Amino acid sequence: MADRLKTNDTAGRELHPPRHIAIIMDGNGRWATLRGLPRTAGHKAGAETFRRIATYCKNIGVQYLTVYAFSTENWKRSEEEVGAIMGLLKRYLLEAVDTMEKDHIRLRFFGDMTPIAPELRALAHQTDEISDQLAPGDFQANICLNYGGRDEILRAVRKFAAECAAGEKRPEELDDAMFSMYMDSRGIPDPELIIRPSGELRLSNFLLWQCAYSEFYFTDVLWPDFDEAELDQAIAAYHARDRRFGGVKK
Ligand code: FPP
Repeated sequence: MADRLKTNDTAGRELHPPRHIAIIMDGNGRWATLRGLPRTAGHKAGAETFRRIATYCKNIGVQYLTVYAFSTENWKRSEEEVGAIMGLLKRYLLEAVDTMEKDHIRLRFFGDMTPIAPELRALAHQTDEISDQLAPGDFQANICLNYGGRDEILRAVRKFAAECAAGEKRPEELDDAMFSMYMDSRGIPDPELIIRPSGELRLSNFLLWQCAYSEFYFTDVLWPDFDEAELDQAIAAYHARDRRFGGVKK
């Protein structure tokens, strides 16, 4: 793993990356439309940006990168667009199966995988098993697929309630830390930094539980144009923030 305290940004400045960065990969459709291309071309370019930014995150010592690839609401899009996104995921997962062990990259999925095509689900299961063999300190990318923050909370509540009904848990023992273990992100620290490109200023049902004290960074750049220097800027902005977690500055 890269030494988190000694990495430099694209301009050669010392960089102290957050441990966990989360990104809403937005603007693919507009990027394509601006070029007279079909929306699916934007997703193809966006997937390449994911590869590039994940590699950069790994190299500068970010430990977790969580990306919003497909929301519980994205099924409203055309069959063609949904199919194209699923096809891209399949292609990247097939590639990941061959390379993640050698590159020390762990891959996890957040979201309800039940409506996902069996072939893609099987691939996700395969990458999960490879990830289990890798060291806990290795870089981890979390792909949010059929993910919604509210859905994640509801699934967690249902599971906890079922365990209470079965007499395995008591409602009084539920606290922050215990509830976190029912989430898809169990065992992973909350993201210090959440980035949304493309000029939209909302969370769109992303990591609602985990974002309690995240810093937000918004930029007008469309996701396919987002590059390493943009990430450096987001990290620099994060460092300029005064994080008090509800306390008072000493
Ligand atoms: C949001 O942009 C993007 C998506 C809903 C899909 C993101 C999917 C990928 C980048 C491809 C697969 C991912 C991986 C990790 C290989 P938008 O379509 O809403 O853009 P718009 O707001 O400009 O229309």
